[in-house]
Amino acid sequence: MATPHIEAKEMDIAKVVLMPGDPLRAKYIAETYLEDVTQFNNVRNMFGFTGTYKGKRISVMGSGMGMPSIGIYSYELFKFYDIDAIIRIGSAGAYTADLKLFDIVLADDAWSESSFALAQSGEASAVMKPSAELNTLIKETAASINKTVHENRIHSSDVFYHESNVDGHEEFYSKHGCVCVEMESFALFHNANILGKKAACLLTISDSLVTSEVTTAEQRQNSFNEMMEIALESAIK
Ligand code: ADE
Repeated sequence: MATPHIEAKEMDIAKVVLMPGDPLRAKYIAETYLEDVTQFNNVRNMFGFTGTYKGKRISVMGSGMGMPSIGIYSYELFKFYDIDAIIRIGSAGAYTADLKLFDIVLADDAWSESSFALAQSGEASAVMKPSAELNTLIKETAASINKTVHENRIHSSDVFYHESNVDGHEEFYSKHGCVCVEMESFALFHNANILGKKAACLLTISDSLVTSEVTTAEQRQNSFNEMMEIALESAIK
């Protein structure tokens, strides 16, 4: 069985999938952390891999950027491959001075201006919740390996480059309480919720809209490893 975007057989994909945005990051995770790896997807270069981590079967697949993209892949994984959970692992831009580069954020919920949920199922809410169970597990896991995670509302934005006449980072924080911005979780959480599945999102701060600081590719790689450890340890529990 295959879907329009995933060429795998159902048994090729583990019940828990880690989802970075970048398919090459999925490849890096598989090569760095997993054993006995097989590649289950190559369609559109949206690589997906299954292997074992500390003896437990786990998959990792790219989501692409933005809600339409993660909306497609997460729906197909949940609905047609019957996976149980997706943990998104991504990067985010900070909206507050309190969040520093490399801090790790666990999405408490995702606010968005996106019409994804309305268009997908008629759901009009601007806020989508992750799985409370998964978030608790991730927080406990992070604490057990001495990693700090900030649990806050995030902004899932439809737009990376805004013109200056519309709301900027100050308003997304002051009006909606979002501490950082990424572009996927609102759609991921929505799909999990309507399909009775679990989703969560861990983010590493890669840039700050307050200070205009940015991280280098090498720094992003290293900081990403910390978040990966939390996600991998959570996924095998
Ligand atoms: N992901 C990382 N940094 C981001 C930003 N500044 N805006 C949207 N998504 C991001």
